[in-house]
Amino acid sequence: MYVCLCKGITDKQIVQAVENGAASVRELRKQFGLGNQCGKCTCMARGVLNEALQSTASCQKSSGKPEIFIPSSTPSVSPSYFTLPSN
Ligand code: FES
Repeated sequence: MYVCLCKGITDKQIVQAVENGAASVRELRKQFGLGNQCGKCTCMARGVLNEALQSTASCQKSSGKPEIFIPSSTPSVSPSYFTLPSN
């Protein structure tokens, strides 16, 4: 699922960034440029980030072995979330 349409950033890229050590929206912004244009993605990116952080933490606590992250849910996007301005 695309989180940032302006930069073409997906939830999978955010999860992978968390697995590689990203822990804040600021780090995602630095790494991907996420939120630097229209900024509409910041809230959703924070939700995906937090879910990935919780999942990563629970994986590390449970067994110490790496596990595959499968999000239990994804934030919903209303159809009007990304509306293009009409001319
Ligand atoms: S959707 Fe991410 S900056 Fe516009």
